[in-house]
Amino acid sequence: MTAQELRQKYLEFFKSKGHTIIPSASLVPENDPTTLFTTAGMHPLVPYIMGEKHPGGKRVTNVQKCVRTTDIDEVGDATHHTFFEMLGNWSFGDYFKKDSIEMSFEFLTSSEWMGLDKNRLAVSVFEGDENVFFDDESFEKWKELGISENKIAKLPKKNNWWGPAGETGPCGPDTEIFYWVGEPDKVPESFADDNDQWVEIWNNVFMQFEKNKEGKFVPLAKKNVDTGMGMERILSALNGFDDNYKTELFWPIIEKIEELSGKKYEDCKKEFRIISDHIKAATFVISEGIAPSNTDQGYVVRRLIRRTIRYGKMIGIENNFTKEIAKVVFEIYGEVYPEIISVKEIVFIELEKEENKFRQTLEKGLKEFNKLTLITGKDAFNLYQSYGFPLEMTEELAKEKNFSVDKKDFEDEFKKHQNLSRTASAGKFKGGLADSGEETVKLHTAAHLLLAALREVLGEEIYQKGSNITAERLRFDFNYPEKLTAEQLKQVEDLVNRKIEEKIEVEMVEMPKNEALEKVKVSFDSSKYGDVVKVYSIGDFSAELCGGPHAGNTGELGHFKIKKEESSSAGIRRIKAILE
Ligand code: SER
Repeated sequence: MTAQELRQKYLEFFKSKGHTIIPSASLVPENDPTTLFTTAGMHPLVPYIMGEKHPGGKRVTNVQKCVRTTDIDEVGDATHHTFFEMLGNWSFGDYFKKDSIEMSFEFLTSSEWMGLDKNRLAVSVFEGDENVFFDDESFEKWKELGISENKIAKLPKKNNWWGPAGETGPCGPDTEIFYWVGEPDKVPESFADDNDQWVEIWNNVFMQFEKNKEGKFVPLAKKNVDTGMGMERILSALNGFDDNYKTELFWPIIEKIEELSGKKYEDCKKEFRIISDHIKAATFVISEGIAPSNTDQGYVVRRLIRRTIRYGKMIGIENNFTKEIAKVVFEIYGEVYPEIISVKEIVFIELEKEENKFRQTLEKGLKEFNKLTLITGKDAFNLYQSYGFPLEMTEELAKEKNFSVDKKDFEDEFKKHQNLSRTASAGKFKGGLADSGEETVKLHTAAHLLLAALREVLGEEIYQKGSNITAERLRFDFNYPEKLTAEQLKQVEDLVNRKIEEKIEVEMVEMPKNEALEKVKVSFDSSKYGDVVKVYSIGDFSAELCGGPHAGNTGELGHFKIKKEESSSAGIRRIKAILE
C-alpha cells in the first residue's frame, strides 16, 4: 500500500462513518504561546474539545503534519520521528469509547479496509488510580471484539493517560493499539510492554476531564474522542516492514545518503535515520517561514541541522549535503503538501546558509571538546558561544564520552551573558495547549489589524507568513523584500491605533469556503481550510479566515506599539509589537 492510498483510505473510512474531512493545520501553531509546534492532530482542535462548535460538525477526521521534539533522543530507532503525519478522528461530544474502539478495529482488520491479522494486535487500557476508575468499558469492548485477555494490558497513568499537553487542558484515559512487527508465525501469546516488536500504532484518547489550574480533574460537559495513528508506523506494518525507514516516506532519502556517503544503511542505521528524520523535519519547518536561529522554533531547526551535519561527518560526509536531502523530501511530499514546493528555494538557501556557518566552526569546536576531561557549564557555554554547538549537542557528545554536563551551571552562564535562549534553557520543547487568556486574545485581534494596516501602507500583496502570540507580545511575519522605513512603521502603527480608537465591533460569520474566498485574501493553497470556515471581520478594514478567539471590539485593545522590525528569513520580515 502506498502512503497516498493509506491517507485516502483512512479519510474515506471515517467519512463513511459520518466524519467531515478537515485539512492539516500548519506545523507552527498560530496564536498558541505554550508550544512551539503542532505535536498531535488534536492540538489545533483543542477549542472544539473544550466545547466550541466546529464548523465541520461533531465528527471530524484528518491527516495532520506534526513535529515532536520530546522524542528526539529516541530518533535513531525504527519507529520514532521528529516529523510525522498523524491520521486522526475526533468526536466532539458525540460517540465515545465503544464506537471509537469498534471503528478502529474495523478499519484495521476488515478485509475491505486494512485487512491486518487480528492475532497480531494487542491493546492496553487504563488500570485506574485514586482519581479515576479502571477503564472497564474499553476492556470489555476489546474482549467482545475477540482480543484475548492476555493481549489486553491494564497499565497505569504513565502509559494510558493522555494530556493535558500543557499545564492545564483536556485529558483522559486512553487505549493504545499495538501491532506485532516480528515474524508473523512468532506472535507471542501475550502482550509485553517492553518488547519493541510490539509497536504502538494507534492511540484512542477519551477526553472526559479538564485539568484546571489547581490541578483538579473537572469532568468536561461533553465527552470527546481524540485518536491519533502514526502514519509511518501503520504504513510500515501494512507493507510487512519492521522498520519505518524502509517505507516510501524514507527510503528514497536513505538511498540518497548511501550515495552521498558511500556507506550502507545496514551498517550505520542510527546515523542514516537521524539524518533523514532531521532534514525532513527541518525542511517542513523552514517551509513555514522559520529560519535557523537561537530562539524558539528557529532554535529547533538549528539543532536539527547541526546535529545532522555532525552525524553526516560520522559517516564520512564532509561537504554540504542537506540541500540534496531536502530535494528528496520535496519529491516525496510535494504532491501531498504543495505549500512546501512554493518555497523550495528559500528552504535551500536557509539550509546552505546554516550548513556553511556551522562547518566553519565544527572542526575546531570538536578539537576543543576533545581536549576536555570534564565539561563544566562554562565549557558548554563556550562551545555554544564560540563554535555554535547547541547545548543538546554538547550533552550528546559528553554522553558518548561518558561525561555529563551541568545544565544548571550552563544556564547560569547563559544568563550572565544576557543572551539567554528561552528555548534552550526553559525546556520549551514540550507540547502545550492554547492559552486564550485575555491578553492573548487582544493581541490576536491586534494582529489582524496589523495585517490590514500593512496592506494599506505597503501594498495589497502582503500576506501573513507566520504568527506567534504570548500574553506579552505578538510576533508577526509577512512577505516584503526590504527593511521597513521608520516612516512606514509609524504609518502602520498610527493606522492600527486609529482603528482601535474607532471602537469597531469584531464580527464572526461561518460560511462556505468558496464564498469566503471572495471576501478574504489568502496567499496559500486554500485547501488548507475545511468546506465551512469562520470569517472574522473588523468593519471594512479587515476580513480573515480564522478560528478565533478575538476581542469583541477593537476599543478593548489599548495602545498598539511596534517594538521591533527585523528580517525573519529570505524575503520575510518580522514585527514584534505590544499593547500597552
Ligand atoms: N493526542 C493523542 C496522541 O497524540 C491521540 O491523538 O497520541
